Amino acid sequence: MYAITIPEPGGPEALVWAEVPDPVPGEGEVLVEVVSSAVNRADLLQRQGFYNPPPGSSPYPGLECAGRIAALGPGVGGWSVGDEVCALLVGGGYAEKVVVPAGQLLPVPRGIDLVTAAALPEVTCTVWSNVFMIAHLRPGETFLVHGGSSGIGTMAIQLAKAVGAKVAVTAGTKEKLDFCAELGADILINYREQDFVEEIRENTAGAGADVILDNMGAKYLNRNVDALAVNGRLAIIGMQGGVKGELNIATLLGKRGAITATTLRARPLAEKAAVVAAVREHVWPLIEGGHVRPIVDRSLPMSDAAQGHRVLEESGHIGKVLLRNA
Ligand SMILES: NC(=O)c1ccc[n+]([C@@H]2O[C@H](COP(=O)([O-])OP(=O)(O)OC[C@H]3O[C@@H](n4cnc5c(N)ncnc54)[C@H](OP(=O)(O)O)[C@@H]3O)[C@@H](O)[C@H]2O)c1
Repeated sequence: MYAITIPEPGGPEALVWAEVPDPVPGEGEVLVEVVSSAVNRADLLQRQGFYNPPPGSSPYPGLECAGRIAALGPGVGGWSVGDEVCALLVGGGYAEKVVVPAGQLLPVPRGIDLVTAAALPEVTCTVWSNVFMIAHLRPGETFLVHGGSSGIGTMAIQLAKAVGAKVAVTAGTKEKLDFCAELGADILINYREQDFVEEIRENTAGAGADVILDNMGAKYLNRNVDALAVNGRLAIIGMQGGVKGELNIATLLGKRGAITATTLRARPLAEKAAVVAAVREHVWPLIEGGHVRPIVDRSLPMSDAAQGHRVLEESGHIGKVLLRNA
């Protein structure tokens, strides 16, 4: 088969479409013929040599895919050859075939085409696990998501609205904020021109945000705590603003606040399967009912994954960038 390889870490040109051996499904795994994958910000780090795949996993990038099951490994039940699926991956999605633990497979939701289904696994699993399973966002609470027009942000806005939360977003342009508003965001903050802490306070009668989903890490650590409400929960999922920050513990104590930080890829198989099962139970009906939809900026040939990386690097997109085979 062909896959996007990274012979040497570097810029987008480091991604090389090359012939590689076919993967073989082991116990509890299936082989998926990949129809599409999607670009995630973590793929950019992997390409630069900063986010290597866990030992034993595929060396190729790609944290999600959609396609058809081509073969079942030993001990797999509930799935058949030919089933159309999408899947959360530890890597290897930028390829013609990938091996997936059966617990990370999802059926393609009714009403969603197979290529577009690749836009769903990472964002639904990341948002559901962090915002709902960990931070327990409840109806009527205020939720702030940074980078509202990102792949993660566009899904977070829709899911938070679907459960009845008030949603605030940050984004870098008016066009992106307008799109967030179309998805239902109530409080729009241009992070280049406005102070999000002040804006959150002003729009919540001084109370703050009950849950914050953060992509910035160090750069926003103290300001996120400042923007939290009493009993607020800050869920960190990204480090776009660095890894070492300073935290005012007195402020956190005063707010009885909680800070969590997770990556999905590193979680044990059983935990990922539990997240996938929860997403199938809670998020799939919202998609099939037309309340939540995948937001796709564009779809590019898989062999031109480098262009997909450039788009993410320039932040020229809204929602997901897909990579399709043929
Ligand atoms: N931990 C996990 O398990 C996990 C899983 C998936 C994703 N993530 C993380 O989630 C984040 C979003 O991922 P993605 O794939 O959806 O990426 P993406 O589409 O490339 O989005 C990146 C976002 O960062 C925003 N941003 C840049 N500077 C900002 C600032 N100073 N303040 C607020 N927002 C700013 C951008 O906003 P503008 O375009 O408006 O500038 C853009 O919306 C990434 O950090 C990624 O690593 C984590």
